[in-house]
Amino acid sequence: MFYEPSTRTNCSFQAAAHELGCKVIALTDKASSSEKGESLEDTIRTLACYGNAIVLRHPAKGSAERAAAVSTVPIINGGDGNGEHPTQALLDIFTIHEEMVERTGQDIFSDNIHSKPLTITFVGDLKNSRTIHSLIRLLILCKNIRFVYVSPPSLEMPLDIVEQVSIQGFDQEKRTSLEDAIRETDVLYMTRIQRERFATEDEYQSVMLDAGAYKLTMGLMRLAKEKMIVMHPLPRLDEIPTEIDSDNRAVYFKQVKNGLYMRMAILDNIFHLLT
Ligand code: NCD
Repeated sequence: MFYEPSTRTNCSFQAAAHELGCKVIALTDKASSSEKGESLEDTIRTLACYGNAIVLRHPAKGSAERAAAVSTVPIINGGDGNGEHPTQALLDIFTIHEEMVERTGQDIFSDNIHSKPLTITFVGDLKNSRTIHSLIRLLILCKNIRFVYVSPPSLEMPLDIVEQVSIQGFDQEKRTSLEDAIRETDVLYMTRIQRERFATEDEYQSVMLDAGAYKLTMGLMRLAKEKMIVMHPLPRLDEIPTEIDSDNRAVYFKQVKNGLYMRMAILDNIFHLLT
């Protein structure tokens, strides 16, 4: 049940379900009784009568929790406003692990703290990027990582997340532009500025005046480490030019493929379809 647009989360969950032999009922808010004013709770109570699990995307933070409180079947959070996006975080951490082991031999799941810390740089709309919020919750279960944040001043990382990171003892630093951060970065996680989360178009436009500081360019790629990886949850706007797609360091379409496998794993974890 998707109350917000989605290409990857929606289609990968559907593809994963088909791949595992499940059947799918796919609904969006525009085609549902939510258009007539039905509450989220009543829609969920209804869908729980028809299916064995519900993947929910909704514009309000906390909506997955509200849904879980009334649902008789598992709710999978496919993104709740600027809150969380846990299934994306799982595919992202899987991608970081796979790519870093292959390229540098560094294993973020290992306890070996003798290796140099991995620098993960988050760029763009850190306030609204639910994929980053969820990914950080997973990364602070690992060791030997440091975080660098690059965002417009009005779109900084939410304080509760900064606090959690610091309580767990991780180093975190802010930089004012991507150029200031690129040389030290091992994992570059780019995001778009989320226009739909701004109260007014004017506010969005004023942030976009300085958007150049948060964009990746071919010139910046030349300053970056050879073993760096570039990630993006997608959709991208113009923060990563398409010329970068053919660079061996760009892994954002690998993330898309990993999303299918991760969602198959998530469904299998609930239903044990493969055993
Ligand atoms: C993101 C989302 O919806 O949170 N995309 C995704 O699920 N892969 C990122 C975004 O919308 O910018």
